[in-house]
Amino acid sequence: MKKMYITTPIYYVNDVPHIGHAYTTIIADSTARYFRLKGYDTFFLTGTDEHGQKIEQSAKAKGKSPKEYVDEISAKFKNLWDEFEISYDKFIRTTDEKHKIGVQRAFEKMYQKGDIYKGTYEGHYCISCEAFFTKTQLIDGEFCPDCGKATTIVKEESYFFKLSKYQDRLLEWYQTADPILPKSKKSEVVRFVESGLNDLSITRTSFDWGIKLPKSINDPKHVMYVWLDALLNYITALGYGEDEKLMYYWPADYHLVGKDILRFHAIYWPAFLMSLDLELPKHIAAHGWWTRNGEKMSKSKGNVVNPKEVADAYGLENFRYFLLREVPFGQDGDFSQRALINRINSDLNNDLGNLLNRVIGMSEKYFNFTIDSKDVKKYHQDELKEVNIIVSSLEKYIKKMQWHRFLEELWKILSIANKSIDRYAPWAKMKENKEDEAMATIALSANILAKTAILLHPVMPKTTQKIANALNFTIDKNSFEKFIENLELLEKIEIKKVPPLFTKIENPLLKEKKENLKKEEKKKVDGIITIDDFFKVSLKVGTVIDAKEIPKSKKLLKLKVDLGEDRPRDIVAGIKEYYKPKELLQKQVCVVANLKPAKLMGNLSEGMLLAAKDEDGLTLITPMKPKKPGTPIR
Ligand code: ME8
Ligand code: MG
Repeated sequence: MKKMYITTPIYYVNDVPHIGHAYTTIIADSTARYFRLKGYDTFFLTGTDEHGQKIEQSAKAKGKSPKEYVDEISAKFKNLWDEFEISYDKFIRTTDEKHKIGVQRAFEKMYQKGDIYKGTYEGHYCISCEAFFTKTQLIDGEFCPDCGKATTIVKEESYFFKLSKYQDRLLEWYQTADPILPKSKKSEVVRFVESGLNDLSITRTSFDWGIKLPKSINDPKHVMYVWLDALLNYITALGYGEDEKLMYYWPADYHLVGKDILRFHAIYWPAFLMSLDLELPKHIAAHGWWTRNGEKMSKSKGNVVNPKEVADAYGLENFRYFLLREVPFGQDGDFSQRALINRINSDLNNDLGNLLNRVIGMSEKYFNFTIDSKDVKKYHQDELKEVNIIVSSLEKYIKKMQWHRFLEELWKILSIANKSIDRYAPWAKMKENKEDEAMATIALSANILAKTAILLHPVMPKTTQKIANALNFTIDKNSFEKFIENLELLEKIEIKKVPPLFTKIENPLLKEKKENLKKEEKKKVDGIITIDDFFKVSLKVGTVIDAKEIPKSKKLLKLKVDLGEDRPRDIVAGIKEYYKPKELLQKQVCVVANLKPAKLMGNLSEGMLLAAKDEDGLTLITPMKPKKPGTPIR
């Protein structure tokens, strides 16, 4: 049986989980679910990273012992993943006894190989990133190039790993195995390695909260560098150090990480593995950051979005879909409720949910809930061909972690179904007594829904189950093989009525935090606004029902504009040089409707008209087709 090993980073327990962590975990979860559905023997690992100076300091700040502190926060991660029904096979903690033994075993092996030597580390250390830097790498000789925080100067006895020895092998590996996803990130890593690797300090002596060196080395004042400890979780979780034969799932197929820790995974980790004579991972896939108003979401910035709150308000599976669909893998994405609402309303509710409603509705009305696919090929050969081409092309996107592309392409088959219903209008065919044709169109759509349910199952397990119930088939390895790999169609379909899958959302369901609003203000200065900012402006179509000159004013006209409200608005506009009052009567205009009223030359103005002006003069903006007064403009 084919196997599949997928990992997330193990998260530091100084931070409560936010949507950044949820993002990585949900990508990994969807990937694991996809390969399980295909019948792969899949192992999905996540967990927490619990040692190091940063954790020791955080515990102290809370007045807790490190162990007490890490138990508490590790449980928060585990509980959240359980609530989110993340399908991990193991949750590893670096404070687990077995992990510690495995790490010591690895240290011993690398030492015996001659890859570790003792020296003194002199340089800079960023506690927040748990990373060493030379002075020239720092910003202004002081600040961490990764997170921007002040670094500390360290001079202490340390063991070193001969990272430099592996420079050439690493460079060769990047070229031949091409392990880094997305491709655009590869050159960054290659450049870093080509610029020359220093040996890596892998032990610390100035604090205690870490794994001790193996007894055989007999140097009790040292603890392991937290990144050596942490990276090794990917093999200790499989039994490394206990019984190496247990490492059945090794090598990893996908290490999912954020771009912040790509260097550790693409440089240190494979070098450690080379030293241990183990196989290298197949892929290291680095995604971008979720930001708030352009800044990376992180606890220290106080701008985190709580994933539980979002999932509770909008639905866990809708949230999963949004995270995977919204941002191209590798790029940053700004989180906003508006963007989430748009995905739910348009992709999920309109394209998917309404399609199911239509299929259920028409099969009930015309065929008493029983349809079959016998004439689909006859009447919809072209559509089917298109669907099959798309369905057969989808897996490559998952293999490259491009879930956004996968979903985008998958939605194209939904669009084929929706368009076919509009175009072939089964209701009209029924009137013409072309029942076979009507049924073929409905069956085409039902089959497209079935294929979508199977392919979307890894992302939205429960929602797709409801679709499968409605269409009376099972989502499993067999149906994957039949309907996705072999492109077969469902034969007879006994349709069941199910409640609508989604509800349309009008307004944001969560209150924005004040501190975020302040940051939004700041962003406005840079000229960039969020969609939420834009929607604060209420623009409406209005009809001019009265227009007069304002005596003594060269510029102003006084209008009455119908906005579909109880009474027309008084609007004073600076357009006298360009329009005669008569010309404006019954013309439609675009009005800023929620502007604070103001007095101009003693006349109240309750809105503003949109206009464009250049050296040739001014023109009012008007809709291309007449619209009811009060129609919103978006
Ligand atoms: O780095 N956007 O742990 P960590 C997207 N313990 N993803 C984000 C994110 C954001 N704003 N913020 C965090 C560590 N992440 C180490 C890892 S692995 C052997 C050791 C996600 O708690 C993303 O996956 O700082 C990132 O790489 C990870 O959380 C960092 O988690
Ligand atoms: Mg971090």
